[in-house]
This record gives sequence, C-alpha cells and structure tokens, in this order.
Amino acid sequence: MKNICLNIEKALGTVSKEQVFARETESNACMATLHNGTGAGNDFLGWLHLPSSITDAELADIENTAEVLRSKCEVVVAIGIGGSYLGARAVIEAMSNSFDWLHTSNRKNPVMLYAGHNIGEDYLYELCDILKDKQFGIINISKSGTTTEPAIAFRMLKKQLEEAVGKEEAKHRIVAITDARKGALRTLATQEGYKTFVIPDNVGGRFSVLTPVGLLPIAVAGVNIRELVAGAVSMEKATDASVPFAENPAAIYAATRNELYKAGKKIEILCNFNPKLHYIAEWWKQLYGESEGKEGKGIFPAAVDLTTDLHSMGQWIQEGERTIFETVISVEEMEHSMIVPTDAENLDGLNFLAGKHVDEVNKMAELGTQLAHVDGGVPNLKISLPAITPYYIGQLFYFFEKACGISGYMLGVNPFNQPGVEAYKKNMFALLNKPGYEKESEAIKSRL
Ligand code: PA5
Repeated sequence: MKNICLNIEKALGTVSKEQVFARETESNACMATLHNGTGAGNDFLGWLHLPSSITDAELADIENTAEVLRSKCEVVVAIGIGGSYLGARAVIEAMSNSFDWLHTSNRKNPVMLYAGHNIGEDYLYELCDILKDKQFGIINISKSGTTTEPAIAFRMLKKQLEEAVGKEEAKHRIVAITDARKGALRTLATQEGYKTFVIPDNVGGRFSVLTPVGLLPIAVAGVNIRELVAGAVSMEKATDASVPFAENPAAIYAATRNELYKAGKKIEILCNFNPKLHYIAEWWKQLYGESEGKEGKGIFPAAVDLTTDLHSMGQWIQEGERTIFETVISVEEMEHSMIVPTDAENLDGLNFLAGKHVDEVNKMAELGTQLAHVDGGVPNLKISLPAITPYYIGQLFYFFEKACGISGYMLGVNPFNQPGVEAYKKNMFALLNKPGYEKESEAIKSRL
C-alpha cells in the first residue's frame, strides 16, 4: 500500500525550505508535548493512539449494530452536529455514488440522511415528511448529550418513529452514541433501553471520527470501516514521534503552514478537484477552525470545490488580497473511466480533447490552476491521495489530526478546547428564556 504524500515545493517562493526546516526543533518539541501529554488540553489526547488501539471486538460490535439497522431500515438518519456529524458524512459522501439516492430499487445500502446539524424548520419538516412512508432508523450522536440542535431533531424523529412502528420496535431502530455516564442522552438511552456506544472522555468531537461517532454511520452506509481504520493506523506510524522531522508529513505540514502564517498568509484554502471530497473539506474546516482559532490567533480555514469554484472564487484567489495559501487534495486514480467522445461536426471545438479521459482534463485544470495561483502569489501545498478509498481517507484523517495537534501547539494555543463555541449558546438560551438564564435574559433583552 502506498501512503498519501505531502509536497511543499510550490510553497517555497513565499517561505524558504530553510525557514520551514528551521522549525524542526520547535516541531519536535510540540510533538513531544503531544506524546508525553504535557501540554494544554492533555486530557483530550485519546485520538493520538486511537487507530492502533481499536480492537476487533469493538469493530465487530459496530458492524453487527450496523447490520441490524441495515436489515430493518431503508433510510437511516444520523443526528449530530460538528464533530458528531462531519466525519461520518465526509466518508459516506466520498465513498458513495453521487446519485445513490436516485436508486430506489434493489438498493445495497440504506439511504443516509442527516439531521441535528441545523435548526431549520423547513429542513426538519421536509425530512419528517419524506420519512412518513419510509422504514427508518436513527443514530443519535452527541458527546455532551445536551446540544440543542440534535436534541430538537431527535425529539421530533423519535416521536415520529414511535408513532409509526411502536415504542418497542423503535427501540431496535435507535442507537445512541454519547458519554459513558453524563448528559441527557445517556439518561434517555438508559431509560429507553437503546443500544449505545460510548464516546471516550479523552476524545473531543472533532477528533472522534474513528470512534463509533464516525464508524457506526459509515458502516451502516456500507463502507468498510476496517480499511478506514487500517489507513489511520498506517498514518499513526508514519507520523509517529520517532519519525524524523524531514520524513514526517504531519510535522512538515504543521511547520510549513505556521511559517506561512508568520509570513502574512492568514487564510488557508483547502481545494479539491473531486466533488465527492466536499465534506472532507467541511470536516477539515471544523478540525482546524475549532482547534486553532482562539486568543486572537489562527489561520482561517476555508475551502473550495474546483473546478466549480474557479468560476466564483477563482478571481479572488488569483488576484485578491495576498493573504492566502492553498492546500490541494489531489487524487491520482479515479474509480471509473469516461472518455471524451469525438463529434463529427465539432461545433464546440472540443475535438482536441476527444479520446482523453475526463480526469486527464481535470488534472490539467489542476496543474494549470496550481501554476496560475503560484504565479499570482498563492503558495501551494499538495497532498496526493493515490485513490479515494476508505484506506486513504483513514490516512488523510489521521494525518490532518496529528498535524493539527502539532500546529496548534506551535501557534501557542490549546488545540483541544473550544471556549468560543459557548458564546452563541448563552445568548440563544437567554433569548429563549431557558430556566436558569433569568439574569442573562434580562441583560440581553435590555440590549435589543
Ligand atoms: O468538536 C467539538 O467538540 C464540537 O464540534 C462538537 O462535536 C459539537 O459541538 C457537538 O457536540 P456534542 O457531540 O456534545 O453534541
């Protein structure tokens, strides 16, 4: 098996290789801080050796539970938000046929739908409506067990499911993934007798994709979770503290992006040229945004789908304020083959492409874009993925997680907390007159 591979050559006009490599000592120190558990947030390091510590029995339990849902349900709704949602969706979208939902007969896998990642009334109405004549199940994911968005969605869907199939059968179609002891979801799951999985105390939401949080929905969608985990295990080894800086892709990525940040590149744009990777970028944005954006610091993580967004954001990237750098996820091999056909009349003038694979055109667009952006003052990092498979996505997840831990420490923040996420919740509860928020309600209303 190959490894995903990082290339920083095209970033080296803005910062030099010497500058990146001058960060070696600092990077090694941050790596040691992570591995020795001596840094801020050290009670959230459970992800560090998670891939290699997942047992066969744990995977079998997830697969068996997935099989129960797969056998009973034509639709499974994964309820969750942030780290309790994005990783699963990232893998499922990357590994599924883009038009899978249009296959209504002879389906191999249940249709996966998502809820609890917004508070859209119309979204929930339409979801409940489409589920009226469907055999559906629910995976309810919340580490705290108290997050408002998923709790509202679960309340609605639980009621609908119980009314449709009865309380007893509903129990067999609901799985809860939450804290071992704390939170309203744990209490409810115990009371109702749901099958549950535990999110370990020491794994934060955005680092939880390789726990049941990600693995159960991914398995329900028919994706091989053992391959995903195997890929992550291989990257755990490839980025271990024992691997020298120059050969350690996570350390090099962390050092390069911090050096670029120091040079005024405040925004990192994750680019992909394959639409199936859209949610990988959404997952990455959460990982880096919540881990690094604090204390008035942090690279702003943005993402574009290319070539699609070259027709919207392309102008800005090429000629806007020069505060950006790009990290491109480049996929080497496509799963399918499509050749551009010859056209006798050639009215569109495209016969020069006839006989070429669509991906060859895409690759030239990728190369052309890279060169244009580098010429336009946008440093470019490239992560090559041999193919879009669970194994390489597992590698990519772990690579980004490890680099994020090192990078956050290099930046001088605690990469494992998210104090800023509470601000909107406090205001929302005050505005909604939540019991216990009386003082805040009064204060906030006086500002309106
Ligand atoms: O990464 C995080 O910690 C957050 O994004 C959480 O995953 C998100 O807020 C959901 O929290 P919970 O799983 O407690 O419902």
